[in-house]
Amino acid sequence: MKIFIANWKMQLSPEESVRTARSFARVFKNYQGQAVLCPDFLSLAAVSKILAKSPLVLGSQDLSAFERGAYTGEISPVDLQSLGVKYSLIGHSERRAYLQESDKLLAAKIKAAVSNKIVPVLCVGENALERKQGRAMAVIKAQLKGALQSLPTATLRSLIIAYEPVWAIGTGLNCDREQALRVKATINEWCRRGGFKKIPVLYGGSVKPENAVSFLGNDGFDGLLVGGASLEASSFYQIAAL
Ligand code: PGA
Repeated sequence: MKIFIANWKMQLSPEESVRTARSFARVFKNYQGQAVLCPDFLSLAAVSKILAKSPLVLGSQDLSAFERGAYTGEISPVDLQSLGVKYSLIGHSERRAYLQESDKLLAAKIKAAVSNKIVPVLCVGENALERKQGRAMAVIKAQLKGALQSLPTATLRSLIIAYEPVWAIGTGLNCDREQALRVKATINEWCRRGGFKKIPVLYGGSVKPENAVSFLGNDGFDGLLVGGASLEASSFYQIAAL
């Protein structure tokens, strides 16, 4: 089954998140697929209640590598799990760029997610300069290696990888289907060689109802990670119902 993840980032106030989540619950009432909402942390508890009787699943945009203790400002994966979080984005390019998240930290976060039964969604992708210099594949392989190499494959059965070319995020620029699929093949091959079996690979970066279908279909991606077009139930539904 394809998986569709809505990343609300820090776009909505808690009140707006509640309103939007209610509208998602209405629109997705009879939905039979796998769709995940990732609100910001302040809205998570309220959104969790709204989604309780809905087919929609709760996700988080990040989590702490630590479970409990003196870690000011962190959000425990233990508490996320008890709120009903089933998936967590890890290493989104905005966190890598603005918060300098390192591969070592991402590896620890993946481990923390898995030990709390939260599916880690590791985000990878090259920026515009890296692409221009022909280094996209090398950058992506280095990101995979950095975050995953130290982790035993047996513990990572629930891993998902999201390919998000940084230059396509929030820009309206589309990654060409063939190019995106070449990256998917590289990720699949890297995982196979590393002993990771059947890891779903999602695509993200300016996905809209109009272009979503081009990334799916035969031999396409295993789902989509959506930012801007996930802020409205009807547009996300058009994508998630594909
Ligand atoms: P976008 O964001 O769909 O607005 O490009 C995707 C993401 O950052 O996950």
